[in-house]
Amino acid sequence: MRHLMSPLDLTVGELEELLDLAQDIEADPGKYAHACDGKKLATLFYEPSTRTRLSHEAAMLNLGGSVLGFSSADSSSASKGESVSDTIRTVSCYADICAMRHPKEGAPMVACQHSSIPVINAGDGGHQHPTQTLTDLLTIRSLKGRLNHLTIGLCGDLKFGRTVHSLINALVRYEGIRFILISPEELRLPEYIRHDVLDRNSVEYEEVVRLEDAMPNLDILYMTRVQKERFFNEEDYVRMKDFYILDKAKMKLAPEDMYVLHPLPRVNEISVEVDSDPRAAYFRQVQYGVYVRMALILTLLDIHID
Ligand code: NCD
Repeated sequence: MRHLMSPLDLTVGELEELLDLAQDIEADPGKYAHACDGKKLATLFYEPSTRTRLSHEAAMLNLGGSVLGFSSADSSSASKGESVSDTIRTVSCYADICAMRHPKEGAPMVACQHSSIPVINAGDGGHQHPTQTLTDLLTIRSLKGRLNHLTIGLCGDLKFGRTVHSLINALVRYEGIRFILISPEELRLPEYIRHDVLDRNSVEYEEVVRLEDAMPNLDILYMTRVQKERFFNEEDYVRMKDFYILDKAKMKLAPEDMYVLHPLPRVNEISVEVDSDPRAAYFRQVQYGVYVRMALILTLLDIHID
């Protein structure tokens, strides 16, 4: 049985196959409309979510399956003190596959050790968010036609942003990837990722504070929200929250074929005036997130459609 805890749980070859499957689903969704008839997906969300929970659910519904779950810890027995391991043993009796989001790093990993169904990590604290990474990779591959030889600007909360951590892990396996890490000093990419992932894989990167300095050199700009819920005090959050605001003037500095991605939700970091720029790809990214999760569910359930 397979789980998805980190993007590295898939080899580069498996990842390519999964993205190819997602592309086939996009081209011919009808072919997959009954692929999961009779199957159930449970969404166990201990932390707020719009896209990740609903896109997993939409993906299963699009495949002909059904969904059950909870969308906050308060409405589950976690509020009575139930452990993740007991919850997953229970849910294993109800569903064929589950997606779990949890504020604690490693909670989905604990779940998969006690589960008899595949577990998808739908975001664990400031650690990993592999299905967002699959979404990002499908978006980049669809828009740029490749996943190698790219300069990628990661901007915002690189310290707590789990989407950034997972995306870096996945991209360092491709040739010619260069990162520009754009953040205030306080929200720099954690040392363990710079050292264990970037340096160890000899990946070229530079750290800058000003977004304007990075813009002209980018193939992809990956914007992120300052993660309010991971700050220890309100004062630091308030100081950081509007550090970056991407607007039309800054977009003028970017190449014509650069795309802007964002895992969403956005707060103030992308001005709404950017939405009409053809390079703004964050809502297209949301759509890719459904196709890729359909492909992931099929892959983890080992269902093949000819
Ligand atoms: C991200 C998350 O939850 O980590 N959102 C998402 O899943 N699309 C990013 C965020 O919340 O800022």
